[in-house]
Amino acid sequence: MLIKKLGTNLGVEISELNIKKDVNKNIISKIVDLLSEFSVVVIRAQNINNEEHITFSELFGNLEFTKVGTDGSGSKVIILRNFAEDGTILPVSDRQRLNNLANQVWHSDSSFKEIPSKTSILSAKIIPNNGGNTDFLSMRAVYKSLPDELKNKIDSKICWHDYSFGRSKIDPGLVSKNEKEKLPPVKQRMVLTNKRYGKSLYLGAHCSKIDGMGKKESAELLLELNTYFDNKSFIYSHVWKPYDLIMWDNRAVLHRATPIIGEIQKRLMVRTTIAGKSSTLF
Ligand code: OGA
Ligand code: MN
Repeated sequence: MLIKKLGTNLGVEISELNIKKDVNKNIISKIVDLLSEFSVVVIRAQNINNEEHITFSELFGNLEFTKVGTDGSGSKVIILRNFAEDGTILPVSDRQRLNNLANQVWHSDSSFKEIPSKTSILSAKIIPNNGGNTDFLSMRAVYKSLPDELKNKIDSKICWHDYSFGRSKIDPGLVSKNEKEKLPPVKQRMVLTNKRYGKSLYLGAHCSKIDGMGKKESAELLLELNTYFDNKSFIYSHVWKPYDLIMWDNRAVLHRATPIIGEIQKRLMVRTTIAGKSSTLF
């Protein structure tokens, strides 16, 4: 197994590893350590089917079941694609296309769940020639960059995270009544503390409002915090190669897809999501 650093503040690449054959306790604990320290772990060249993806993922914990209204619903995988079964590109107004669009906004997977996900594992199957990258933003680096006054202001703040909030901005009809009922807003701490690596900011597209603040005041503070995201050294942008597998720590980074550039081409990704073990509140 070879290890190489990727971004300045996050990201590490593993090559010369076959997750179908080579994994053992030591390798798993090495990956867990790399994930804790670097937040994003890219494992190259893993041509795996969904079952193998699930088997590998379960070495790290229990998996989330895919929520209602999403491709893969009820199973342990979530499927991101922009084309129909027959291979034709879906119209822009299709749910899949709209969900892909929603993924282009910085977010943390499952932050709308009471116990949000800890790690996501995404496998690239079909990738376009140009664009369709995935960006990762170190929220530890963002937190570190805040002025002390702002850190003090937000350290004990609680945010509401609401699945329908971000999705409705993409298209008011994107979240059905049933989904809305199944996914009520939840509270999350705005600043998370990792015992070893310190504090990180926990925000993203699902964050609708800061608890106990007026609507306007809350929106202004969220906007102010967003201005600190804009630093190239905080971002690792992954240009996918087929069969790359990426694991990321949802409690230390935000991520987003980037648009496909030029003529739209097929993109197919499959994700598993490792459930969190603890609420962010206690
Ligand atoms: C995800 C996600 C981004 C992408 O799988 O959770 O946001 O680039 N993916 O497909
Ligand atoms: Mn995501």
